[in-house]
Amino acid sequence: SAARAMEASRFPFTPIPIQTDDEIHLPEGYGWQVLARWGDPLFSDAEGYDVAEGGPVEHSDRVFGENTDGMETFSYRGHQLIAINHEYTNRKINLPAGQEGTPASEGDVRKLQNLQGVTVMEVREGEKGWEVVRDSPFNRRIHHNTPMKLVGPAAGHDLLKTDADPTGTAALGTLNNCGSGRTPWGTYLTCEENFNGYFGATGEIDVAGPVQAGFERYGIGADGWGYDYHKWDARFDVSANPNEPHRAGWVVEIDPTDPDSTPVKHTGLGRFKHENAEVVLAADGRVVVYMGDDERGEFLYRFVSNGVYRPGGSTEGLLDDGTLSVARFDEDGTGEWLALTPESTGMEAAEILIFARMAGSAVGATTMDRPEWISANPHAVEAYCCLTNNKNRGVKPNAGGDETPANGPNPRETNRYGQIVRWRPHDDDHAADTFDWDLYVMAGNPEVYDNAYGGSENITPGNMFNSPDGMAFDSAGLVWIQTDGDDSNEGEFAGQGNNQMLAGDPVTGEIARFMTGPNGCEVTGLAWSADRRSMFVGIQHPGGSWPDGTGLPRSSVIVVKRADNGLIG
Ligand code: FEO
Ligand code: CA
Ligand code: CA
Ligand code: CA
Repeated sequence: SAARAMEASRFPFTPIPIQTDDEIHLPEGYGWQVLARWGDPLFSDAEGYDVAEGGPVEHSDRVFGENTDGMETFSYRGHQLIAINHEYTNRKINLPAGQEGTPASEGDVRKLQNLQGVTVMEVREGEKGWEVVRDSPFNRRIHHNTPMKLVGPAAGHDLLKTDADPTGTAALGTLNNCGSGRTPWGTYLTCEENFNGYFGATGEIDVAGPVQAGFERYGIGADGWGYDYHKWDARFDVSANPNEPHRAGWVVEIDPTDPDSTPVKHTGLGRFKHENAEVVLAADGRVVVYMGDDERGEFLYRFVSNGVYRPGGSTEGLLDDGTLSVARFDEDGTGEWLALTPESTGMEAAEILIFARMAGSAVGATTMDRPEWISANPHAVEAYCCLTNNKNRGVKPNAGGDETPANGPNPRETNRYGQIVRWRPHDDDHAADTFDWDLYVMAGNPEVYDNAYGGSENITPGNMFNSPDGMAFDSAGLVWIQTDGDDSNEGEFAGQGNNQMLAGDPVTGEIARFMTGPNGCEVTGLAWSADRRSMFVGIQHPGGSWPDGTGLPRSSVIVVKRADNGLIG
């Protein structure tokens, strides 16, 4: 029965039980090691960087940043590179004890700015396992002050101009780098999510019209989220620089093979709280980018390029010149991508991109339960999106936002567990404007509920979880699901344990638990070595003293391998 079903499954491992401790757990026959921890030096001049008290500002841009998130691997001329996001900083553990996480100087702010963004690093596998190649010419930190280009249809628009950049084409920094993506031409995409939290005001916020509406819709106000950049760095003070927030919230392209290259913000992909960017090719070679906007009641987006990708050909405009659309899911199991155009929205072309959320509302996109990662199946023309949870159904997420009723792909009134929606484009073409959809899984707790909150049929007491978030398909066609949920293991979450990583079979729907993380953590970010014998997994905001067993907890990337060094996806 259950054992036989598991034997017949495609999972190359025996599923493991939940855990509530401060360790990593894997199936028998698998092992792990730490690859890089917050504060580990990427360059010798940062050797001895000490994270106690958060570490000094000196060399804080020469170490592996904090709170690892999305990542992608690249093979280049025999070098194994990883590009990886650092989403945010835990202010309380980065700033001296006694400050309660509040910056007390320009140096404090600069340190927080340095420890976020992106790391590009070379890694290699030797006798003692994997290690970061210190001082590799490929190693690079990109942070909140790194020069960037703004390109695409909205670049140079008045709303993107500031006193420091009257051209509206040269921004500084990439903020709150959440999920990732990769292009067919070998570049890295880093996605700016909760950028609004870094802005605040020291004086009156003097905005009106669409800018004011945008501040409300995107959550930009006087206080920010406690980073207090605006008190020490005028760029983040919206009473002085009201257009600066328009220069964040984009998808940013980075060439991991060229440490001198300038990262590029692509306005053609729209401005919202980007989770990740899943790039696939349409039947005719046009570039299709699927993107989620992670906030309660926001939307799913798709970009289709005008031009066609040809290996070795020009990639100019392939992430900017095209059509941005939002998804409408209908109750009959079909759906449609609604193009955001001046005709459909009543908005000017550049404003559609800068205020994509308002454009989505104007065309009647379906409000979603917090779209997190999207991943496309390499063996079938279909894509999956984690809808992590939604505790506030019916409440407008932001002024100007829409009502968020339960609807087709978001069917439960109080959704604490989340679900994964899947769509299959008509004509087997990711550029088709219509699709069929279903729910791959509704997470739930079958030991607490015998209704919809018990989850879909592929959820059992043996594999349950809540709040799917990270997600990636492997080359064999299994979909790996990472969670960022309630790990109290109590009440509605009893029996679900720590956050975890599971594997799903897209054909049978079967789901099996592969890994559990340390208590307090979220498991996020997944990539494979070129030989697919190593899996890189991110452990964000761990608790306890993980992984050192003493001192502060340190977010880290780990490597998971089979003991027999077999293929692992
Ligand atoms: Fe950064 Fe929506 O997770
Ligand atoms: Ca996430
Ligand atoms: Ca999440
Ligand atoms: Ca997170």
